[in-house]
Amino acid sequence: PLVALVLAGGTGTRLYPASRSDRPKQFQSFGHEQSLLARTVERAGFADETYVLTREDYVEGVRERAPGAAVLTEPEPKDTGPALAYAAHRIREQVGDCVLLCLPSDHHVEGEFQAVAERAARTAAETGGLVTVGIEPSRAATEYGYIKPGASVDGYSSVERFHEKPDESTARAYVEEGFYWNAGLFAWTPTAFLAAASETPLGPLIERLDDDPAAAFDAVESVSVDHAVLERAEDVYVVPADLAWDDLGSWDALERVLDDTDGNAVLGDALLIDADGNVVATDGHVSVVGVSDLVVASFGDRTLVVPKAQAQRVREVVARLRGED
Ligand code: GDD
Ligand code: MG
Repeated sequence: PLVALVLAGGTGTRLYPASRSDRPKQFQSFGHEQSLLARTVERAGFADETYVLTREDYVEGVRERAPGAAVLTEPEPKDTGPALAYAAHRIREQVGDCVLLCLPSDHHVEGEFQAVAERAARTAAETGGLVTVGIEPSRAATEYGYIKPGASVDGYSSVERFHEKPDESTARAYVEEGFYWNAGLFAWTPTAFLAAASETPLGPLIERLDDDPAAAFDAVESVSVDHAVLERAEDVYVVPADLAWDDLGSWDALERVLDDTDGNAVLGDALLIDADGNVVATDGHVSVVGVSDLVVASFGDRTLVVPKAQAQRVREVVARLRGED
């Protein structure tokens, strides 16, 4: 069987103040009727079963937005590496061996998603390897992983090299050389994933998942699946995908997915006078006058103003607020 596994345990720090720790990015709708999470679960509706993997605090919010899905919670949030090992272990127990289609819960996707996902799943079943999905880059993004394709077979390639989040000059070189972006969308069998991950720093965690998962999680370092497994594993493949795709990682991304409003990207109710090149997002009402190239984001009792070119610095805000937020 094909099992969709939706990852929904992150917070989406850089979209503060729309996302906060008690209402993470995947619960937000960003101009659509449904939340990103609900849309992801719907998009994966062709799978035989759907699991959502999240943290304890988000279980209620997940059940509300994805009523048809089974919910799994890892003992502690330790990033996607430990989370995916835990899920592979549990799902193998519950449904036996299968192909897992792992999906992030917080992406903007348009196009033939099902065809791409099914091709990835088929490649995972045929090769017994770890399958990634590659998007053709449109800029030297530093917030994505890059994939260097090797020999191309029918509909997929082997992966020669995987590099998670390179710096900007490296990213530029990778774009020139025809690397793909890693879409964060994976297919593998639980057995293949656990075997590959056992050879990495996740090995000791995997060994203890049967006896004492809580202690195993307590002992493991936070690490993403990209750093822990994909950069190291031998049998990695990439299925190229022609999708309009965006991680919606930070406020400047809205410009890429929203229609233009008199030269600005606007989400919610705003009055713009002599304003140009701004990203304005609110769940109330915002007026923006005589300024350009700013992010103005106002949600609940929180407001953020930052030059668009420095949108990644929202991380600094969240770091300062942590503890009192
Ligand atoms: N269950 C669980 N537990 N889910 C998590 C956790 C966790 O501890 N941490 C993150 N997630 C979920 C997020 O909610 C998101 O849906 C997904 O896992 C990916 O995590 P991100 O934190 O958003 O990863 P990223 O965007 O920095 O990088 C990954 O995605 C990029 C594409 O969007 C990498 O795979 C990159 O290589 C890739 O390019
Ligand atoms: Mg992401």
